[in-house]
Parts: sequence; structure tokens; C-alpha cells
Amino acid sequence: KELQLNLEEIEKGGYDHFMLKEIYEQPRAIKDTYRGRLLADQGLIKMSGIDQNLEKFLNANRIIIVACGTSWHAGLVAEYIFEDLARISVEVEYASEFRYRNPVITDKDVLIAISQSGETADTLAAIKLAKEKGAFVFGVCNVVGSSIARETDAGAYTHAGPEIGVASTKAFTTQITVLTLMALKLAKEKGVFSESRFHEYLTELETIPAKVEKALLANPLVEIIADVYKDSTNCLYLGRGYNFPVALEGALKLKEISYIHAEGYPAAEMKHGPIALIDEQMPVIVIATKKGHYEKVVSNIQEIKSRKGKIIAIVTQGDEQVTELADHVIEVPETFESLTPLLTTIPLQLLSYHIAVMRGCNVDQPRNLAKSVTVE
Ligand code: G6P
Repeated sequence: KELQLNLEEIEKGGYDHFMLKEIYEQPRAIKDTYRGRLLADQGLIKMSGIDQNLEKFLNANRIIIVACGTSWHAGLVAEYIFEDLARISVEVEYASEFRYRNPVITDKDVLIAISQSGETADTLAAIKLAKEKGAFVFGVCNVVGSSIARETDAGAYTHAGPEIGVASTKAFTTQITVLTLMALKLAKEKGVFSESRFHEYLTELETIPAKVEKALLANPLVEIIADVYKDSTNCLYLGRGYNFPVALEGALKLKEISYIHAEGYPAAEMKHGPIALIDEQMPVIVIATKKGHYEKVVSNIQEIKSRKGKIIAIVTQGDEQVTELADHVIEVPETFESLTPLLTTIPLQLLSYHIAVMRGCNVDQPRNLAKSVTVE
């Protein structure tokens, strides 16, 4: 038993929890994800799973993404990326709903299944259904040789390394990295992207690990903010566009490990319901990076402020407008709008981590949750 405990301490590599270790592993994990694939000097993205099936992707009517939990949120980010960058129509579905709603699928559809473990029962069942109907099925998994990796026609691994904490962190950002590589590659192959634009993206993507490193420097500040809000009973997360799924993921992270009720919303939907909840007790976490409908988010923030909500804003380095309005701001480096989820996610992971630790919760193994749900 003692030996086992020591082993666990070693595995945690000096961190108090696996979750924190995995949050800090993200710069390296993202680099591992694009290593050997992103070849900026050659102006190339090499992904054999796509190269060998290029026609399937180029002739697809649409891409259907199926996943559960955090992987589903990565799918939502991918919807923005594929549509915006590669101009391919995308639908994102919870695997559990998709499999039971008699979906219309043809052999012109490409289904992408996203799963960290590669063992989620609902995602596996959705794959089997899509295959029966003739769709081409592509897997984005972390665990090599997992059931989903074996069941799919082709795929791309995330190479994030083992994720032990039940709350998914590095799996999420590496899934987004793989999906971004795929979208960029297809944008280039389709001729939607010029050589120079493609090259700009490759170069920017290569700066992301260092920018994640910078985002992690906010940790002491996030800990101070966590201390202020650790006793909250509710939390609202808002974002628009690319950062709407990040808001959902931020809320999921908080509820999973701290048991505080949290909801993520597209910022503009606030006026259709959640605004009724806002009072001086209510922390509202707003992702308000430059670009990304910045001015609209500013007016959402003003609405929250006039109802006395507490505003924690995730902003771009050097921001002034939101910084003036918010109660707390956490800065992330500037990048292309489509790559912001890789940075804005970081402070939200840290915030939920610190709040959960302060509340005495079992961060790595939250109650009632499993790392991978292999039954229905
Ligand atoms: C469980 C885990 C989540 C995960 C989800 C999907 O609910 O607790 O962290 O996002 O399953 O898992 P998958 O392995 O398919 O990504």
C-alpha cells in the first residue's frame, strides 16, 4: 500500500494532483500533437489518415462529429474551425442522442468520433451505426489501440500521453489541435486557403505551446480569484463564437470537480434566460478576447454589471476596455481568433482546479464520475 502511494507521488511529478500536472503538461502535449505533422518550413501538414482518404473528405456532403463530455466540447470548437477555415458544413451530436434518433446518414457523409479513452460506449455505438449506413468514419483518440481507434476506418491520435485526472484537460486542447490541423489541411487541399494564408496559420500554430506557457503564468492570480469565489453556489460562463464551447467546457470543469452549479451559455443568449439569475452573488466568467465579437461581449458585460453581477473576464494581453469594467481580469496572449480556445481554456481549468482544492474536493476522482464510461 505504502509502495503504491509512493509510486503515485512519483507519477504526479511533484504536483499535488494529476489534474494540475496535466494542465501544466499542455504546452508539451500540444507540441507532441503536431510534431511530425506540422511542417512549417515545407509548408505542409502531413496526416496519413487524411492523405490516404483525401477524396472522402473533399467529396463529403458534410462532416458529422459525435462525442461525449469534454470531447463533445472539442467537437463544438471543431465545428467553428471546419466551417470557418475549410468551408465544410459540420454537425455536432452527442453520441448518445445520435445513436437513438434514426439519423439520416449516407455514404457521402464523413463521421468524426472524438474520444480521449477510445472506449466510451455511446461513441462506439454511434460509430457502428454510421458504418452500417455507409459513412466513412474517422477517429480522434488519445489511447492508442483503443476500441474506437480500432473500429474506425482511419484516424489521428492526439498523442497527449496518459490522462489520469477524471476531469479532462490536456485531452481537450490536443483534440482541438488535431482538429485544427485537419481543417487547415483540408482548407489548403480545397483551395480555400492561399499558400501564404496557410503558411501564416502554420507559423502561428507553432507559437501556441509558448503562449499556453504564458497563459499558465496567471496561476497565482487565478488562485486569488478562486479564493474570492470558492463559496459561490452558482456560476455562469459566457463566450461567443469560437469561445462559446470554451464557456461550456469551463462550466463543466467547475461542476465536475467542485460541485458548484455552473452553466455555460453563448453570451448573446444571456438575455433569453440566465440574466434573470444575475445578482451580486453571481460570478460571471466572460471570455472577452479581442476580435471574436469583442464589442458585443463588452455590451454583454455592461448588462451584467448593471445587475451587479461579479465579472471575471478572460481578456487579450493589453486589453483596456473590458479591464475597466470587470472585477477581475485574466490575460492570455494574442493569437488568431480560431486558435484562442487553446489559450482561453487554460485559466478556466486552473480556476476550477483551485476552487475544488479549496473546497476540499477529491479533484482527481470526483464523486459519481468515471474516467471513461464504457456502459450505457
Ligand atoms: C467521461 C469523462 C469525461 C470525458 C467523457 C468522454 O464522462 O469523465 O472527462 O470527457 O467521459 O470520454 P472520452 O474518453 O470518450 O473522451
